[in-house]
Amino acid sequence: MKFSLSSVAIFSLASFVAITNSQSTQNCPLLGPIFPAPLNPALSKAVHSAKRNFPQILTEALSASILDNSTTSFSINVFSASDNQTLFTYHYAAPALSGSLPGGSLNDNTIYRIGSLSKLFTAYTLLVKAGNLNWNDPVTKYVPELANASTANPIANSQWSDITVGALASHMAGVTRDYSLFDLSTQDYPFAALGLPTLNTSEIPPCGFGPGLTSCSRQQYLKGVLSRHPVTAPFNTPIYSNAGYAILGYVIETVTGKDFSEAITSGIYQPLNLSRSSLLAPPTNDTNIIIPGDATSNAFYLDGSAEIPAGGMYSTASDIRTLGLSILHSSLLPPALTRRWMKPMSHTSNVLNAVGAPWEIARMQLPLSPYTNDTRMVDIYTKSGDLTVYSSLLGLVPDHNIGFSVLTAGKSSGLQRYTLASLISETWVPALESAAREEATARFAGTYSSDGTNNSTVTIELEDNRPGLDVTRWISDGIDFRSTLKLLLDNTTDPSVNMSIRLYPTSLTAGNSTSFRAVFETLPYEPIQTKGVFASNCETWVSVDGFTYGSIGLDDFEFVLDGTLGKAVELKPRVLRTNLLRRA
Ligand SMILES: *[C@@H]1O[C@H](CO)[C@@H](O)[C@H](O)[C@H]1NC(C)=O
Ligand SMILES: *[C@@H]1O[C@H](CO)[C@@H](O)[C@H](O)[C@H]1NC(C)=O
Ligand SMILES: *[C@@H]1O[C@H](CO)[C@@H](O)[C@H](O)[C@H]1NC(C)=O
Ligand SMILES: *[C@@H]1O[C@H](CO)[C@@H](O)[C@H](O)[C@H]1NC(C)=O
Ligand SMILES: *[C@@H]1O[C@H](CO)[C@@H](O)[C@H](O)[C@H]1NC(C)=O
Ligand SMILES: *[C@@H]1O[C@H](CO)[C@@H](O)[C@H](O)[C@H]1NC(C)=O
Ligand SMILES: *[C@@H]1O[C@H](CO)[C@@H](O)[C@H](O)[C@H]1NC(C)=O
Ligand SMILES: *[C@@H]1O[C@H](CO)[C@@H](O)[C@H](O)[C@H]1NC(C)=O
Ligand SMILES: *[C@@H]1O[C@H](CO)[C@@H](O)[C@H](O)[C@H]1NC(C)=O
Ligand SMILES: *[C@@H]1O[C@H](CO)[C@@H](O)[C@H](O)[C@H]1NC(C)=O
Ligand SMILES: *[C@@H]1O[C@H](CO)[C@@H](O)[C@H](O)[C@H]1NC(C)=O
Ligand SMILES: *[C@@H]1O[C@H](CO)[C@@H](O)[C@H](O)[C@H]1NC(C)=O
Repeated sequence: MKFSLSSVAIFSLASFVAITNSQSTQNCPLLGPIFPAPLNPALSKAVHSAKRNFPQILTEALSASILDNSTTSFSINVFSASDNQTLFTYHYAAPALSGSLPGGSLNDNTIYRIGSLSKLFTAYTLLVKAGNLNWNDPVTKYVPELANASTANPIANSQWSDITVGALASHMAGVTRDYSLFDLSTQDYPFAALGLPTLNTSEIPPCGFGPGLTSCSRQQYLKGVLSRHPVTAPFNTPIYSNAGYAILGYVIETVTGKDFSEAITSGIYQPLNLSRSSLLAPPTNDTNIIIPGDATSNAFYLDGSAEIPAGGMYSTASDIRTLGLSILHSSLLPPALTRRWMKPMSHTSNVLNAVGAPWEIARMQLPLSPYTNDTRMVDIYTKSGDLTVYSSLLGLVPDHNIGFSVLTAGKSSGLQRYTLASLISETWVPALESAAREEATARFAGTYSSDGTNNSTVTIELEDNRPGLDVTRWISDGIDFRSTLKLLLDNTTDPSVNMSIRLYPTSLTAGNSTSFRAVFETLPYEPIQTKGVFASNCETWVSVDGFTYGSIGLDDFEFVLDGTLGKAVELKPRVLRTNLLRRA
């Protein structure tokens, strides 16, 4: 065998491989799906058993007081974008909330207040209406009042020309959280008795949600926002801001030349037929609504006015499902824009949470199978909301092409929403991972060999406790190519050193073809060489496409699929310039 790699090249790739050694899992997959999302999840054993078991998980949680079974009602929905199926739907009308359902039943079309889940509708409308053109523009381009604002004192004045539309959308602008909302001075309470100074009238917000206040006009709202100190410098650290989303509402009005209501209606309500979602309360003759207790104190009919884009909207389990499916399908956005949108914009101080626009990203450490504690990272893109007794959450799992919604109403709505979201994630995400594994086995596992001779052969297998498609045998022209790679990448012929070659989907498809990239790792891992901060790395992403032969990556694989069932019929390990047909 001849080698053309320089020792420098061998050294540099060997060091990439070494850096993966300290993984707690046996392999370091790329971030993202380890198998293609299942095409027919509803047909899989794992999803069947999740459907069978989940009602009992809920019933047990209700009877064991893990869920408040008396004073909190809820609606949940789990759906798959691969087949557009509802995998699971469940409604619980709490017995102590009798009278909360004027229409007499709780179902997929019952209207809840959704609080800050409204922000997702707002960000989606902005993307649908303006694409990615203005994401990095300063907000001053669209909201003249902000362009005019004083910037003299950086502690007192937000530097609006440094603040982009995307910064507002991702809570990275550092601007005030609210104006008037939650301002104690607007409440009817003797705060002076608690040690707070007595205010003169000019210091008390003249509009907003307090007793006797009327809603803020645009002029009043922006004047109020400008009166408030920024919290932090732009792009410094995520600071949750309702005001940021109220301002995005004005940006949408400028970009579209329409008022916010028309923009969201023509942008998403109409195209998706979200016929039971709205900015204002449904008419009083609409009885398929939920009001747990007194409508006034629960603010069911309260007009969110300036804060509508941030938290004022109404929706149903059915409409939120439709919205989630549309995002997963990229039905209103170019797919590349959806992928860009569904990425973090900042870390948070919690290693398992990140922030997007306005995604609240939960990083789930998903076991690779039921038989191992080895995990991989699955990102769940969520947006939650809270308003008085209402809480909500939409979760999307792009790795598996599924989503879920949780709507709660009642005494423990906020906590109940997260408990339900956790129960859903812990049952359905592993079920979909198993479904993906089941399907990948049927679609890709087997032996592929060259026409007429088996001198070139690749065998693909799946292992329960490992990610990706495992290339367990790779013969090129009669030569064991796994040994070749071991020599090229790790400079060894030692039989105790094993080369792990695992294929991960790239999400690139063309016609009936779909591409994968291999991740090469040397197993078993050597003892950790590097100590300290850089020791615990899973960094295989840096070495993908690292070595090429005549401009084709050693790790470049393409499957040709059967046009109807999606089963692989052919494999091209592209570096070998040969097509292998599936034999078994
Ligand atoms: C590769 O291994 C051989 C024999 O073990 C050794 O002589 C050579 O220095 C190694 N090359 C590199 C670049 O490590
Ligand atoms: C509600 O919880 C209580 C206390 O755990 C339990 O006794 C009761 O059976 C539960 N009711 C329902 C409907 O689950
Ligand atoms: C699911 O819905 C999307 C968007 O409406 C559509 O493009 C797709 O063909 C549907 N898929 C199936 C399997 O029905
Ligand atoms: C900007 O400031 C000028 C001078 O104070 C004022 O005349 C104008 O109306 C302001 N424009 C906006 C949009 O607030
Ligand atoms: C408001 O009260 C403060 C003292 O708390 C005083 O210094 C200030 O002049 C007052 N402003 C007005 C407009 O009355
Ligand atoms: C829109 O949704 C409503 C109620 O959810 C339904 O009755 C109607 O048929 C839908 N319209 C279209 C065009 O799908
Ligand atoms: C409510 O009343 C309006 C007219 O005021 C009518 O158009 C609408 O169909 C009614 N809706 C229901 C659910 O009865
Ligand atoms: C997973 O971890 C638990 C708790 O540490 C342990 O009891 C169990 O044996 C482990 N399972 C496997 C398959 O390693
Ligand atoms: C190649 O192997 C397959 C089974 O893997 C076998 O069916 C076929 O006859 C073999 N072809 C040749 C030319 O040996
Ligand atoms: C080497 O890897 C292959 C493919 O993953 C596996 O079948 C084999 O058991 C491994 N051998 C050793 C010695 O670990
Ligand atoms: C298959 O490999 C053997 C051994 O390398 C070689 O002698 C033979 O010519 C090859 N057959 C074909 C058709 O390439
Ligand atoms: C995909 O495969 C089907 C048969 O399975 C074939 O009819 C169709 O032409 C293929 N499409 C492309 C783009 O190759």
